[in-house]
Amino acid sequence: MSFQAIVIDKDENARYRAELRPLSDQALPEGDVTVGVQYSTINYKDGLAITGKAPVVRKFPLVAGIDFSGVVEQSSHPAWKPGDRVILNGWGVGESHSGGLSQLARVKGDWLVPLPDGLNARQAMAIGTAGYTAMLCVMALERHGLKPHDGDILVTGASGGVGTIAISLLSKLGFRVLASTGRTAEADFLKQLGAAEVIDRAELSSPGKPLGKERWAGVVDSVGSHTLANACAGTRYRGAVAACGLAQGMDFPGSVAPFILRGVTLYGIDSVMAPKPLRREAWMRLARDLDLAKLEALTHEVTLGEAIKAAEDILAGRIRGRVVVDVSRG
Ligand SMILES: NC(=O)c1ccc[n+]([C@@H]2O[C@H](COP(=O)([O-])OP(=O)(O)OC[C@H]3O[C@@H](n4cnc5c(N)ncnc54)[C@H](OP(=O)(O)O)[C@@H]3O)[C@@H](O)[C@H]2O)c1
Repeated sequence: MSFQAIVIDKDENARYRAELRPLSDQALPEGDVTVGVQYSTINYKDGLAITGKAPVVRKFPLVAGIDFSGVVEQSSHPAWKPGDRVILNGWGVGESHSGGLSQLARVKGDWLVPLPDGLNARQAMAIGTAGYTAMLCVMALERHGLKPHDGDILVTGASGGVGTIAISLLSKLGFRVLASTGRTAEADFLKQLGAAEVIDRAELSSPGKPLGKERWAGVVDSVGSHTLANACAGTRYRGAVAACGLAQGMDFPGSVAPFILRGVTLYGIDSVMAPKPLRREAWMRLARDLDLAKLEALTHEVTLGEAIKAAEDILAGRIRGRVVVDVSRG
């Protein structure tokens, strides 16, 4: 059987390239479940993998795509049977195991979660790894005990995938959201998603003081670097920061002052190896707590062939919200 996929490879001159290519099912990797993929997405990490801007891909050739939704076609795993509707995020898929920017995928059944009631395959990938990570961040702030009356929540990288879904979730949960963006022209859009206030990311992206004015009770940060350091410095006494990203940089040029003088807690959020019960909880919560009309408003759709251009666009900051990939369209 032949199917279409975005394949990342190195040519004879070791030049990195990604292309839409037909593959036969013999090219599928090892695994006990074969899934007919319906939708995938372009996350920031897919951008890095497809363009080769960071060493995300560790095996060549490899099918790109760190997530997908679809229907089980074959299974020798006890939890899954043909016809089951499933989601996959992470576990090294799209990095060291062929991934979801493909019409067919083969993975370990242990990596899959069921599509929760209330979401269809397209909505699941409109959420994608970025949205599921936003939910993990929100759950970390909730577990910390933060409630809407404790104060504002800062969301950095607000126009991006994690940011837009975090704003939508937090506002539906009753939090007052402060959205930090470099695209202030998107202020109305961010307010429609639920941001109460929009600030220019320039306020946070340069070196700052070890401690600043206490401005927010919690933070969802997908940016890292000085932005994360300043976000911690502006967090209220006993507040919490959920750090999941590095869009500005992987460095953390901060001080311990917020932690030892204000009792601020910094939570690290990893979606790739997150344990299964946490994943299931996050997906159930997304089905319950995300406004699907807002999800549609922050999503645009591309074909599998257009995914390579979308990968370049996400790194260049040209993508607003989320990109869903309809893999049936080559
Ligand atoms: N830990 C995990 O498991 C996990 C999972 C998913 C994502 N992530 C990470 O989270 C981050 C966001 O992912 P995403 O898919 O939401 O990407 P995205 O859609 O590209 O969003 C990133 C946003 O960050 C802001 N940004 C970009 N460059 C910046 C810079 N130089 N300085 C300050 N802000 C900048 C932009 O927002 P504005 O235009 O609004 O300023 C951009 O839209 C990425 O670093 C990704 O690797 C981590």
